Amino acid sequence: MMQIEVSHLVKEYKRKKNPENMLAAVGQMFRPKYEILRAVNDINFGIEKGEAVGYVGPNGCGKSTTIKMLSGVLTPTSGKVLVGGLEPTKNRQKINKKTGIVFGNRSVLWWDVPIIESYKVLQKLYEIPEKRFQENLEEFADIIGIRQLLGVPERQLSLGQKMRCNIAAAFLHDPEIVYLDEPTIGLDSESKLRIREFIRQMNEERHTTFIVTSHDFQDIESLCKRIILINHGEVVVDDGIQKIQKNYQSKKQIRFEMDQNPWLETEKFTMDGVTILDKTPYSLVLECEIQKVDAMAVVDQVSRACQILDISIQGQDIESIIREIVTEKG
Ligand SMILES: Nc1ncnc2c1ncn2[C@@H]1O[C@H](COP(=O)(O)OP(=O)(O)OP(=O)(O)O)[C@@H](O)[C@H]1O
Ligand SMILES: [Mg+2]
Repeated sequence: MMQIEVSHLVKEYKRKKNPENMLAAVGQMFRPKYEILRAVNDINFGIEKGEAVGYVGPNGCGKSTTIKMLSGVLTPTSGKVLVGGLEPTKNRQKINKKTGIVFGNRSVLWWDVPIIESYKVLQKLYEIPEKRFQENLEEFADIIGIRQLLGVPERQLSLGQKMRCNIAAAFLHDPEIVYLDEPTIGLDSESKLRIREFIRQMNEERHTTFIVTSHDFQDIESLCKRIILINHGEVVVDDGIQKIQKNYQSKKQIRFEMDQNPWLETEKFTMDGVTILDKTPYSLVLECEIQKVDAMAVVDQVSRACQILDISIQGQDIESIIREIVTEKG
């Protein structure tokens, strides 16, 4: 049995329709018109214990809505979510004990009491044994860098410090699954690194299962082996990152250092399927379309026109591959 099973999951929101004009707006003050928005449209996937999955896709594609249904915050319109064999909305207490949740733009800590006091409230709420609570606190304090913050009220913390404290809070009760909805949104690079390191460690050492949504592909690449790509509420791709990179790659970049650049005065390269991205008198960066041209043939062509001093070939990064899939499939 998969730890998380999602089948034919649908969520519809009912919302007030935008009036077409002023007259309609006045009319709708008395008799509001509603429309149904299908935010999640027949989604299916399964996640094994210990997996770390990147749940990605453009704004409004239904990521947060899915996370809310997985965690039991929202009830599905139809379809099913099973977490450890249980339906989250019907087993809130049991599910809450097994799961942790972090929303990048929301805090679970109290505004004006020291962080440690908030943690103690969580300890009571989740019935965490004192010994375990202290052990976890001790372990998290250094990895995520919150030791100095425990005595400070949240209102006195910076955004990055606040987020680190919130992330540690989600792990105090030894959850089996943690949902992270944009955990690094708006953060500085030091906080991002710390958070990624902490999550990676929890995943490797404790085999905590993760579902991470993020628009920062460094989060996804450094934490996840698998990506589920959503668009318009539907799964577009669900596969290993390396496989996606291999199967959907459409371009390669080749960078040359050379004794002199024969293409310095021209905008076009001499082969079909190759474009010049950048050039200086001693360097040239080309982009090759894999379908049209072989990278080695391009290298050969360049080597005939000048002396190559150095060369590097780079595949497309996962972010641009995902962007292409989304644009192509609309
Ligand atoms: N409470 C709500 N009532 C009505 N519509 C909603 C509600 N919450 C979300 N939506 C709509 O549902 C769709 C999916 O929203 P959701 O928040 O799941 O997107 P998302 O993938 O998390 O986007 P983002 O990357 O911007 O966080 C959007 O069109 C949004 O406007
Ligand atoms: Mg969202």
